Amino acid sequence: MISPASIQDVMSRADIIDVVGQFVRLKKRGANYIANCPFHNEKSPSFSVSAAKGIYKCFGCGKAGNVVTFVQEHEKLTYPEAIRWLAGYYKITLVETERTPEQQQQQLAEESLRILNEFAAGHFHDVLLNTEEGQNIGLSYFKHRGFTQDTIEKFRLGYNPESGDAFFKAATFKGHNPELMEKAGLVKNRDGRHYDSYRGRVIFPIQSMTGRVLGFGARVLKSNERSPKYINTPENELYIKSRVLYGMYQSRNAISKLDECFLVEGYTDVISLHQGGVENVVASSGTSLTEDQLRLIGQLTKNLTILYDGDAAGIKAALRGLDMALSQSFNVQLVLLPDGDDPDSYIQKTGANKFYEYVKEHKRDVIGFRLETGLRDAGTDPVKRSKLVNEIAESIARINKAEDFSLQDHYIKEAATRLKVEEAGLVNLVNKYIRERVEQAERSQRKEQVLPEPEYIEEADELPGLQPRIAEDTQEWHLVRLLLEEGCREYEGYDSVADLIHETIDTEFLQIPLVRQIYDSYFNYRAAYGKHPDIAYFINFPDAEVQRKVATVLHANTDISPNWSKNYGIESLSGELNYINDVRSTLNYFEWKNLIELQKELLRRIQEEQDPLKLGVLQRKLIELQATERQMVARQGTVDKYKK
Ligand code: CTP
Ligand code: MN
Repeated sequence: MISPASIQDVMSRADIIDVVGQFVRLKKRGANYIANCPFHNEKSPSFSVSAAKGIYKCFGCGKAGNVVTFVQEHEKLTYPEAIRWLAGYYKITLVETERTPEQQQQQLAEESLRILNEFAAGHFHDVLLNTEEGQNIGLSYFKHRGFTQDTIEKFRLGYNPESGDAFFKAATFKGHNPELMEKAGLVKNRDGRHYDSYRGRVIFPIQSMTGRVLGFGARVLKSNERSPKYINTPENELYIKSRVLYGMYQSRNAISKLDECFLVEGYTDVISLHQGGVENVVASSGTSLTEDQLRLIGQLTKNLTILYDGDAAGIKAALRGLDMALSQSFNVQLVLLPDGDDPDSYIQKTGANKFYEYVKEHKRDVIGFRLETGLRDAGTDPVKRSKLVNEIAESIARINKAEDFSLQDHYIKEAATRLKVEEAGLVNLVNKYIRERVEQAERSQRKEQVLPEPEYIEEADELPGLQPRIAEDTQEWHLVRLLLEEGCREYEGYDSVADLIHETIDTEFLQIPLVRQIYDSYFNYRAAYGKHPDIAYFINFPDAEVQRKVATVLHANTDISPNWSKNYGIESLSGELNYINDVRSTLNYFEWKNLIELQKELLRRIQEEQDPLKLGVLQRKLIELQATERQMVARQGTVDKYKK
């Protein structure tokens, strides 16, 4: 770990104008500097850097942060990597603090695998380009597939000869350890004799987001070969299949710039697309997407477009990962390529422009896609159709509503039309699935102490619109954003929004430690200085986690549920009154949560109460609370608008 003093050192030396200026052309405008934003495409500059505050903000795409977050975002580095980058730039020597023995062990293992892999990638690449067998067999194979020299170099493609142990010998000569080579999957050990794993194969190094070689895929050349088409690196400390995406390193900038990530199946698809000029693409390497892979993409964009062959069996594997993507608020689209083509063959025929055009024309959202294939399968069979309605409702229920209300709404409308069912009915079904999942989550949370639930609670559960429960995390972060962005604004009856929040929120309900920390720092500052801390205060906060989180929270999309216009008669949501609605709805959530807690407490007391008179009082109180909750939920306006 880098010592806090060193981080301080770097922070005090790093000059944001100087660093940003290394990557973009800054022009002075008043007290600030402006430029075309490096994080999205634009023609006129909306990216602004303040030397005084040490922060940047893009008014176009909303990206904001300090000098470290800039290096992180721009170079796609982690926080410590960005600190190291800056230290290198300013020639500052970092002092590292001790790690635990386990951390040291893990790091040692990763580090030695990384060094070996780096050697192997360079070696295979060299063999491909500079040996006779490499050129005659490997290179001619790649050329035959249409890969140019530039492409071969960009992806560091390689070759290993047919003969048994060429790599083993070369690596041993360089002093690499045979056991490590086995662990890295590069050699096999048969009764003490070592031979290469990849014999007569072309080799695709698999790199991390920052370009480290994590492992390899090695492809056979002959189609009649009995051994597997690809040999991939086995899982080890460095190569964890569920966490890598092929092409991430080469594609990361284009993905974030174009704000869209294409997902394909194979190594060769990624490579051909790059060569054709489509650079925002990664491959899942033939398996369905994992949560970690989604998180990796999510750092760069929330727009995921999956490209598959028209006849693909792969589409089924892809669809499996998608409910997860929906829950993580991805906007997922699917594109089927013309029959008989995969992305590799298709782009080689069409070139980039036609490719993008085709994708644009044939994009369908996941739910639309499921609807289409499902309807085709079901035909007029009523049983199959009702099964389909259920499946679609379940998928829609997974969309994180607090963040994506309008998206959920959109899907409900579309699905209702296509399935020819009543929209209101579908809404109820979606709500049922949301409730089921919430209840399931709650049940697993309080496993042991399950209270027998009395009738009136079930009645309350029948109410529509209990979904705020799934979004606790989102709500807490939403509160932070409100506090930071709107805290100093006016609110009727209070000095400011922050004061209203301070009076309303019971901090017991803030369960995320980081939220609690920011919340407390805000009000400590306010108490100490008698004024509101500004955003820069948090963006430059001593704790790096706080900095990062604040920067992302401030980027977040702030769409408001369209129900507000219905329930409060406010038509223009982008107007000045926007924040008032926002404050109300967020505080409503915490008040609602408070009500739920009070109900639980009452229930507990009802269970224990022996005196029938007191019991009556408690039960009336409970019914009152339930009525209040019902009103609140109705006022909040969930999908119950259809119930009227
Ligand atoms: N794959 C694998 N092992 C196999 C077959 C496939 O790991 N035996 C993975 C590879 O990551 C491969 C992806 O699944 O890239 C897609 O498979 P496929 O389309 O068969 O491979 P391509 O890379 O497209 O190869 P090519 O175009 O040369 O057929
Ligand atoms: Mn292919």
